[in-house]
Amino acid sequence: DLLNIKVAIDGPAGAGKSTVAKELAKKLNFTYIDTGAMYRALTYKAIIENINVENRNKIVELASKIDIELKNDKVLLDGIDVTNEIRTPSISEKVSYISMIPEVREIMVKLQKRLSDKGSVVMDGRDIATVVMPDAQFKFFLTASPEVRAMRRYNELTSKKIPVKYDDILNDIRKRDKNDTERDVAPLKKADDSIVIDTTNMSIDEVVSKMYNIIANG
Ligand code: CDP
Ligand code: CDP
Repeated sequence: DLLNIKVAIDGPAGAGKSTVAKELAKKLNFTYIDTGAMYRALTYKAIIENINVENRNKIVELASKIDIELKNDKVLLDGIDVTNEIRTPSISEKVSYISMIPEVREIMVKLQKRLSDKGSVVMDGRDIATVVMPDAQFKFFLTASPEVRAMRRYNELTSKKIPVKYDDILNDIRKRDKNDTERDVAPLKKADDSIVIDTTNMSIDEVVSKMYNIIANG
């Protein structure tokens, strides 16, 4: 179906998924859907409402009535722009505990599936090719070494004047990799039919071109 092309991008933190997905979506004139932003928005809401991320019942209750909208690169939580607030290290540190909860994933996946049926999309996350869009025509799995991923995130945060230490970022990335790949429900893993791109030594443009060529020729 030429009117409903789905591109799935999965991989660990800092592999370049969201940057590349955004560029690729622009080039293809597809809608970009950032699923990590949804888990982050829920985490943010839990924090401002003083709910402990380990209080599963409360988190599920919160998830069941959350209003998340992705609008032109902006993330709206209950109508309020939280695009920048959800990227801070304190959210990154807690989000993988929330995304482990099966009922939370069920709610998010339902929302994501609904979004994926509205025309052509590029969607990035951890379980997109395996769970959310198993029928995607194009599936990619981006990776890079943990050290390079941590350095990218370090550079990104320091350029935004957010004070961070490289070692803390590397530790967070290692812990999240572990939580995301070892959880019981929809763990981060490559789908059998995903194309792996190791971006360790690649620029953003190189990754985007590689993916674009695969899609344009496919
Ligand atoms: O940008 P970064 O890779 O650091 O994280 P993200 O894509 O914004 O995702 C944040 C967290 O949300 C991940 O570490 C996962 O725990 C969770 N997540 C998930 O479980 N499933 C998804 N489809 C997307 C994100
Ligand atoms: O979404 P994910 O966590 O996979 O990664 P990202 O947020 O898109 O990328 C993390 C940082 O790495 C961003 O600042 C990108 O500009 C940078 N990056 C890079 O330097 N080289 C790449 N090949 C990909 C991303």
